[in-house]
Amino acid sequence: MNITYIIAMQAEAEPFIEHFGVQEVPDFFSPLPCRLYRADIAVTSGEPVRLNIVCNGQQHGSDLVGCEAASVATLAAIEKLHPDIVINSGTCGAFRADGADIARVYIGNSCMFHDRRVPGDDRWGTQALGNYPVWSGAETLAHTLGLDMAKVTTGSSLDMQPCDLQIIRENGGRLKDMEGAAVAFVCSLMGVPVMFVKSVTDLCDGGAETYEEFSRNLSKACRALKEVNIRVIDYIATHRLA
Ligand code: ADE
Repeated sequence: MNITYIIAMQAEAEPFIEHFGVQEVPDFFSPLPCRLYRADIAVTSGEPVRLNIVCNGQQHGSDLVGCEAASVATLAAIEKLHPDIVINSGTCGAFRADGADIARVYIGNSCMFHDRRVPGDDRWGTQALGNYPVWSGAETLAHTLGLDMAKVTTGSSLDMQPCDLQIIRENGGRLKDMEGAAVAFVCSLMGVPVMFVKSVTDLCDGGAETYEEFSRNLSKACRALKEVNIRVIDYIATHRLA
């Protein structure tokens, strides 16, 4: 079983990398900036797991966040690693009004873009929003592991403009990130199942300045993410992907 994670920031991946003792495979994606960490891990029962963690890499001294880097990393990972499933794991904003809390971890049940406003007929609008499919087993996984599910909405900015909020809420979005739908877009083209594991760093309706709140809660949210990902891997290895 080949499980391949796409993770934008090193900080999001670090606790996970440390836990599994995965080693970097230097220059695996060269000349692309993405980085591969790889290990074969033993699980409680079921198939052994080849775990690939692909981080987007850096440019200008910072981690490459956003849709472009996520698309490049996902396509390269699928072409070179042939995963059975892609898991996009990372941090997100969420809404206090929905009962969200810092470091709560969700499984995505659907995904879309929230900042692609294309006027025209329904076909342009449909393409702009995306609404890509998520792995059909995600709901049972979430139920079995006792995790909440929510719709992931993706845009290219950390902040949220009123028009973003309107699209998010009109479409039932509850988690706001910068990569999810881009990863799902590539997976839909390549016919690979995709799943989301997202941990909350900031509350979009909490009144705090987003970057400050995100930075303050990043390590706590990433530790929670690691704990859930350990259980997710064990579950997938045991139950397969049927
Ligand atoms: N990642 C973490 N918090 C986020 C937010 N509020 N918006 C987009 N991506 C995020």
